[in-house]
Amino acid sequence: MRFDVITLFPAMFSAIKDEGVIARGIKKSLLSIHTWQLRDFSDNKHRNIDDKSYGGGAGMVMQVEPIRRCITEIKQKKPNSKVIYLSPQGSKLTHQLAAEISQLDSITLLCGRYEGVDERIIEQDVDMEISIGDYVISGGELAAMVLIDSVCRQVPGVLGNQDSLNDSFADGLLDYPHYTRPEEIDGQKVPEVLLSGHQAKIDAWRKDQALKNTQLKRQDLISK
Ligand SMILES: C[S@@+](CC[C@H](N)C(=O)[O-])C[C@H]1O[C@@H](n2cnc3c(N)ncnc32)[C@H](O)[C@@H]1O
Repeated sequence: MRFDVITLFPAMFSAIKDEGVIARGIKKSLLSIHTWQLRDFSDNKHRNIDDKSYGGGAGMVMQVEPIRRCITEIKQKKPNSKVIYLSPQGSKLTHQLAAEISQLDSITLLCGRYEGVDERIIEQDVDMEISIGDYVISGGELAAMVLIDSVCRQVPGVLGNQDSLNDSFADGLLDYPHYTRPEEIDGQKVPEVLLSGHQAKIDAWRKDQALKNTQLKRQDLISK
């Protein structure tokens, strides 16, 4: 799966390109992340890509032309790439949405800064707006990295032996509790059943715990 990321801060993406699960997916050639410095698509010597907001107000707005030129260049390589604008006004990113995006071969992520992008980009060039939650952060880069990580976990082979099927939300419930060594610490014991070696009993216990965990922490998921 290929990600093209349009950003003013390409270096931020080394956080996921160089470390952990995504880096391993890149090494295995299952994923590729290409960053595009938006300033390279400016047409002035100061490499500006933003201007004042029509109607007034303090914040700057990212202009149409550099973004459109950048998307055109990406589409020359990947004509079917879906363009996603990270925006607090978008559809909320969920496990289900990440799973749907993981089926795509190529996506382009547009990271906003300042007041965001000129509305005409959203009208004409963007296929979908996605939000990582009902709050505002300073730029789309962190949101793009959250999206990339949640999507890549669902690309077959990326997690290797680790299994994402039991992750919270995968089957509509939260995950069951996990324990590791030691068996006992400060009087706290690992539940007996997990030491029994009886896999059917362990599976039943985990199912029950996942349900209880969800009832306790996320009643809204049960009602769904
Ligand atoms: C300071 S925000 C602009 C917020 C915009 N003026 C608004 O209120 O809708 C700058 C950029 O950060 C990104 N951003 C901020 N909050 C986000 C969120 N919750 N989800 C995804 N992207 C977000 C977007 O790319 C946005 O263009």
